[in-house]
Amino acid sequence: MTITFNKESFRGDYSFHNSAAAIRRFPFPFDRDEYMYSVNMEPHKGGRDGSVFQRRFDVDEHYLSEMEDRAITLSRDPMRCQSLPHMRVAGWDVLELIMVSKSEDYPDLFELHRDGDRWRWINRPMGIDDSFTFLDDSTLPYGPLEYITRQTQGDFAVLDQRQGNLWMDAGMITSQADWSLDFDIGMSFFEWHAPVPRAAEMGIFQRALKFLLNVQQDSPARRLNWTLTVNPRLDTSPETYPEWGPEKRSLTPENIGEKQFLRVELQSFWRLPRSNGVLFPIRCYLISMQDLVTVPKWGRRLHRVIRDLPEDLATYKGFIVNRPLIVDYLARFDDGAPTSADI
Ligand code: HEM
Repeated sequence: MTITFNKESFRGDYSFHNSAAAIRRFPFPFDRDEYMYSVNMEPHKGGRDGSVFQRRFDVDEHYLSEMEDRAITLSRDPMRCQSLPHMRVAGWDVLELIMVSKSEDYPDLFELHRDGDRWRWINRPMGIDDSFTFLDDSTLPYGPLEYITRQTQGDFAVLDQRQGNLWMDAGMITSQADWSLDFDIGMSFFEWHAPVPRAAEMGIFQRALKFLLNVQQDSPARRLNWTLTVNPRLDTSPETYPEWGPEKRSLTPENIGEKQFLRVELQSFWRLPRSNGVLFPIRCYLISMQDLVTVPKWGRRLHRVIRDLPEDLATYKGFIVNRPLIVDYLARFDDGAPTSADI
């Protein structure tokens, strides 16, 4: 497989763009014309050829630019990557899982050679060829979690499992939808989810936690989540809100197709073998409204979802001020035809 990597940015001039192939494989998250929270989890065991679900850790045309953006964010704010002392082994678990998966799933891009605890890792797109000793931190330029997630698209929360709960005790979080690792570090599953409207009362978090506590090795699970973002920006964190918050006010009927993005998170859940922790990768896919409406059934459905989303969800997701503009724009692409679940 050959991937041509885009030269693009997620800040400044925002030159991010999707090729026609990237639009076709975009993980459109709605299976009906309305949306409400649910325990929408399924086994993460592949998907259609070419889809974002096919491989364990999807690599696409945005890979190199996303890694550059992560490096910029980390240089400005090193606290985006943290690991409490007891999470050291979990970090090595993450490194092993990603290296094994990527070298098996993309053998032309990544190679892993193992001779006992002497490992050699080759990342061709990034020009990396490193040898190190597995479980010996002193042999890598960063801690194991930071080392491998500087080379892997998506954010990564690493959860410790104890007392029948999950604890956010490590992570690499540089492309989040307005939440902070530095704020959430050390919190439990219910504590970090406290700001989410409705879901606790609906029993979603109780059921989701029960499911997660029982995720088994080699049987990962996944779900999709979504929000809207003005401009193709990965780093929409509370720490940088002064940079991107005001951009929400820059939308006009003329520029909305180009500047308003649907942001979809492919979240997956993996049991880690040595630490018994859980890895939670959050892979972000962005698509502009003008690209999205090139698929008529998506434009039609997104119009209905955004128009009818309960006010508290639209407020929490941060687009309530722009909802009228977005709905007006999308209405032009909704001919009123019925839609099906197969989308
Ligand atoms: C939101 C983390 C699993 C449902 C969030 C937020 C975080 C988070 C940090 C943002 C909260 C804020 O506003 O500050 C995680 C982690 C998980 C996990 C680390 C894995 C251990 C799940 C699962 C479900 C779920 C399994 C449900 C099946 C939600 C929902 C939201 C949310 C509905 C609100 C999202 C929105 O409206 O955009 N999660 N979560 N989470 N989470 Fe989770």
